[in-house]
Amino acid sequence: MTAGQAQAAIFDLDEAGRIVVAHLHLDGALLPILHALQERFGYVPADAVPLVADALNLSRAEVHGVLTFYHDFRRAPAGRHVLKICRAESCQAMGCESLVEHLAAEHGVTPGGVTADGRLTVETVYCLGNCALSPAAMLDGELIGRLERDGLDALVNAARGARP
Ligand code: FES
Repeated sequence: MTAGQAQAAIFDLDEAGRIVVAHLHLDGALLPILHALQERFGYVPADAVPLVADALNLSRAEVHGVLTFYHDFRRAPAGRHVLKICRAESCQAMGCESLVEHLAAEHGVTPGGVTADGRLTVETVYCLGNCALSPAAMLDGELIGRLERDGLDALVNAARGARP
């Protein structure tokens, strides 16, 4: 769990329904509802999609499309540790995409996903304010600069094994 991150509640359909209803009065209620669901449960479960779609008179595909378009939304519970990889301009110029490819090839996880052991979530972010030290990443709130493959391997292995 990220430092300062609130403990997420176990997903409950009734509670999700109350969250949806509480936001229905808002203009453009879809994003606030999805954010509120993620804030409460730590992710937006697939079971919430029909609930949201019905409440807003949208198709499930529309809700799913929004959910997958925005990188901020998790569709599965976060792993114990969270690695954010910056994929904005400066980090792209310095090779962040090769780090993303390396993560997939060596560790079997892509941004938006969780390692098979459930210990590490990988997320995309767009600028960590650390452009001078691109490519940049953040593990559990700790900023990392000039990340290379070896350093990435060490971070992933530590997060999956050595860290509490
Ligand atoms: S672009 Fe990656 S830290 Fe700014």
